[in-house]
Amino acid sequence: MSDAQHPLMRSFGRIKSRPIKPRQAALMDELLPRIRAPQAPFDPLALKPDATEVWVEIGFGGGEHMAAQAARRPDVLVIGAEPFLNGVASAVRHVDEQGLTNVRIHDGDARLLLQNLPDASLDRVFILFPDPWQKARHHKRRLIQPDFLDELARVLRPGGRVRFASDWADYVDWTLEAFRAAPAFRWLAARADDWRLAPADHVTTRYETKGLGDCAPAFLDYERA
Ligand SMILES: C[S@@+](CC[C@H](N)C(=O)[O-])C[C@H]1O[C@@H](n2cnc3c(N)ncnc32)[C@H](O)[C@@H]1O
Repeated sequence: MSDAQHPLMRSFGRIKSRPIKPRQAALMDELLPRIRAPQAPFDPLALKPDATEVWVEIGFGGGEHMAAQAARRPDVLVIGAEPFLNGVASAVRHVDEQGLTNVRIHDGDARLLLQNLPDASLDRVFILFPDPWQKARHHKRRLIQPDFLDELARVLRPGGRVRFASDWADYVDWTLEAFRAAPAFRWLAARADDWRLAPADHVTTRYETKGLGDCAPAFLDYERA
């Protein structure tokens, strides 16, 4: 997805690294077109009319968390967004190997996916270990921005939830501040362990295991008012 195609500030790094293995490349050709999320406005429930909930994962990386959550909850439609092609190839392999029928993939910028969703159509959104963009001059590239939170508030139903996780202290503070300024959201933490410990339903992500940040992972769960 090139910047020329949309006016959004680019929030992701590279979109391709090593060559994609032949088996994954074949799945990208055969399976991805069948599970790709529509690229025009759509009702997610039309994709899985018996879904009890609709969840979106933004920046799923290799897709391990998305696939594990989808496997645990076959009643939920899980839509993942990721512009990094090697990550999409890995996710498609997980979908194939685990025989998941409740995953759809937007192989591009999640903000374009959100634009295509109706108001109050999502139950949960996961934003796990987003690119930290540590340098001050890059902070504008961070996914968490006031406009982005407005858009999340629009697509989440009242009572819907957002989970943000990061192991970069400055990004955690930035996110706390941004949500504090967004009246549509309520932070669900009642005690320190609620953000210091991984929630019971969390699945450790690949980036998380690398421990590249400068603090222990923090997990911020918010509810849409
Ligand atoms: C640091 S990685 C973490 C990946 C994964 N969540 C994990 O924890 O292993 C952040 C990911 O977010 C993706 N990303 C960044 N901006 C995005 C956007 N606007 N829409 C979708 N994905 C995005 C990047 O391509 C990258 O794969």
